[in-house]
Amino acid sequence: MAKDLFEKCHEFYQQPQLVKAAGAYPFFQEIEESAGAHVHCHGKRLIMAGSNNYLGLTHHPRVKAAAVAALERYGTGCSGSRFLNGNTSLHVQLERNLARFVGKPETLVFSTGFMVNHGTIGCLFESEDCIFSDADNHASIIDGCRQSRGRVIRYAHADAADCRAKIDATPCAGGAGIVTDGVFSMTGNIAPLRELVAIKRAHPHVRIYVDDAHGLGVFGETGRGITEHWDVQGEVDLLMGTFSKSFASIGGFVAGEPEVIEYIRHKARPLWFSASIPAASAAAAIAALEVMSTESTHREQLWRNCAFARHGLEEIGMYIMPSKAPILALWVGAEGKAFKLTMALRDLGVFATPVAYPAVPYGHALIRTSYMASHTTEDIAAIIKAFDALADPYQIRTTHFAQDPATLPPADYYDLSALFAS
Ligand SMILES: Cc1ncc(COP(=O)(O)O)c(C=O)c1O
Repeated sequence: MAKDLFEKCHEFYQQPQLVKAAGAYPFFQEIEESAGAHVHCHGKRLIMAGSNNYLGLTHHPRVKAAAVAALERYGTGCSGSRFLNGNTSLHVQLERNLARFVGKPETLVFSTGFMVNHGTIGCLFESEDCIFSDADNHASIIDGCRQSRGRVIRYAHADAADCRAKIDATPCAGGAGIVTDGVFSMTGNIAPLRELVAIKRAHPHVRIYVDDAHGLGVFGETGRGITEHWDVQGEVDLLMGTFSKSFASIGGFVAGEPEVIEYIRHKARPLWFSASIPAASAAAAIAALEVMSTESTHREQLWRNCAFARHGLEEIGMYIMPSKAPILALWVGAEGKAFKLTMALRDLGVFATPVAYPAVPYGHALIRTSYMASHTTEDIAAIIKAFDALADPYQIRTTHFAQDPATLPPADYYDLSALFAS
């Protein structure tokens, strides 16, 4: 018998209501005001420990001034796609500057990083092509793979040996590409790019696509990202980045050789059929790029802050997921516990974010903390103090776990029982 299209919505509806009724719904929190490292929510000042604004440039005077000047010159929106009427001189300048920064001949700016992955992977891989994709890749890569007509073969997370074995075992009539995050957004783990590049050298038909959303501005001697960190800048075929992290804006880009970028420019549907970023956002990204290229102090401070945070969280015995980035994700386990803990942290003045299925497997919920150049030592000390105060009630010190949590198999469903425990 035919079903009502909305039946599933009515069935699902109760799930978030349960969490809301328990006062532990941690999503869509309303930020009333932001100073970067501090925000106001429900009238309360919180230390922001859940942002990707790693260099703290959203509030840098040069970045803000550039956005305001562009807003005055071009207005608030472009009202169309770059393809037709939404391509300002600032979009073009941003592409030129990015190309110089990442050392590729050409770049192409999209309206979000999600659209870069969706559009680029979606248009490049055709029915006989094979995509070798890290099991923990970002949702936008997964959706790009789905959008493409390529065959998707997942290899174990950050496991170059498994990637090589899968490539060797997979007959592929068309082209092939390894697709990986450079820095994995939920945990801060990084991709083994040297080994992946070695695979490419041994398999010349294989291309490499790296999503460096979280690496650009942060990793490498000069902030050029994870490919600079691994010294493989010339060996990655396509590099993507987003402006929603260190670039203090919104939008994203892909960089590569001119013929490939021209192909993407004319085939990627999210670029054609969606409006371009406002000129003010392009101007902010240009200014942030200038700042990160000329003021290394932000990056240096970020890494000092990150080392301080890691040391403090280790000292109080938190279980930190493997990370090399300014992202330190702490193991919690059950989703309900992670949601409740997120709200308890807010009560103690800390804005951190829960990570739950589908971003991680069921039962592997985390609290993700991330650090910024604009945090003070006092901010980070307060974050650590809040975790220390909650670690015993929530049983989240390493000593509370009977076995190494990372070895636990995924659960089958969301565990919200902690919301109803007294
Ligand atoms: C690894 C990764 N790639 C792509 C994106 C998408 O970027 P954007 O926010 O610009 O859509 C994100 C954002 O969360 C990300 O973490």
